[in-house]
Amino acid sequence: MCNSLHFLIFIILQISIGQCFANVTKLFLSEDALLNFTQLAKKYGHPAEQYEVVTEDGYVLTLFRIPGFRQVSQPSSSLPILLMHGICDTSDTWIIRGYESLAITLANAGHDLWLGNVRGNRYSRKHLFLDPDEDDEFWNFTFNEFGMYDLASFIDFVLLRTGAAKLNAIGHSQGTTIFYVLGSTKPKYNQKINVFISLAPICYLSHVPNPLASLIELSPVLYSKAKKVGLNEFPGKVIGEALLKVCSQPVTGYVKCVLGMVFAIGGYDREEYEPAFLRVSIGHFPSSTSAKDLYHYAQVGRRRSFSKFRSGP
Ligand SMILES: *[C@@H]1O[C@H](CO)[C@@H](O)[C@H](O)[C@H]1NC(C)=O
Ligand SMILES: *[C@@H]1O[C@H](CO)[C@@H](O)[C@H](O)[C@H]1NC(C)=O
Repeated sequence: MCNSLHFLIFIILQISIGQCFANVTKLFLSEDALLNFTQLAKKYGHPAEQYEVVTEDGYVLTLFRIPGFRQVSQPSSSLPILLMHGICDTSDTWIIRGYESLAITLANAGHDLWLGNVRGNRYSRKHLFLDPDEDDEFWNFTFNEFGMYDLASFIDFVLLRTGAAKLNAIGHSQGTTIFYVLGSTKPKYNQKINVFISLAPICYLSHVPNPLASLIELSPVLYSKAKKVGLNEFPGKVIGEALLKVCSQPVTGYVKCVLGMVFAIGGYDREEYEPAFLRVSIGHFPSSTSAKDLYHYAQVGRRRSFSKFRSGP
């Protein structure tokens, strides 16, 4: 309990200190921090295509495609690959390592890549009738809807477009949860997937260490506070901009954001997330999800069961 309160106070302090350093932000960010998916794909040699996919409940999502180099030696039966990003993330996650990134590596090897963006993130903040800035209802979703609607729409779209009967898929973190949701709520989709690779899979959250464990314990209180102040989107514009300011300070940005937040939550790994990479990643991560999505994960942890969202603690 105490731990996570300290942690929250720590984050708020960091954010307010960061406001003073706004002017150095631009200098610190690397070029790739400021390029979007399309621009990065082009820079690293694989111009991307962009599609809008509309879900059955009206969300307008962005799906990118990198067709890859067709190689003479490659069997024409090779299947398309669908890549799904993690929580508060976007399709950029697959390409921000440039030439070494998974997207560019697979494209160089001749694979046909499709990269989805779930509802609410920077590329999929759009709906046929609802306005994300005006209508609370826009943010009424969790990973359950990402799986049942967004992922189902992406799979159908890719198969229709390519004429393939099945696809291969790679998910990262929440990008794996949504496949488990879809496969169990709409089992016919299991037949549409040939191989699924789960990177950092998330299903149960019963044994996570602090500070995450304490945040999960506190989540009913935090969620009702968030609802009271109308925080539907997380991190959203205000918190997101504050984070950008803090995290893009030279030197202290790494200490506060990577050591103090990313490693504190995800585990220490300096080789995987070195200081120079923060100068790129901060322009792409975090993007937004709903507060309800975070609370749904916390419910999975508290209840020790992978089940649907319920109102109440
Ligand atoms: C990427 O940025 C370019 C240049 O600002 C813009 O024209 C394009 O619409 C952007 N693409 C996406 C998917 O945001
Ligand atoms: C949110 O969506 C659920 C269905 O997933 C529905 O039962 C509920 O009424 C919705 N709440 C609001 C506030 O729109």
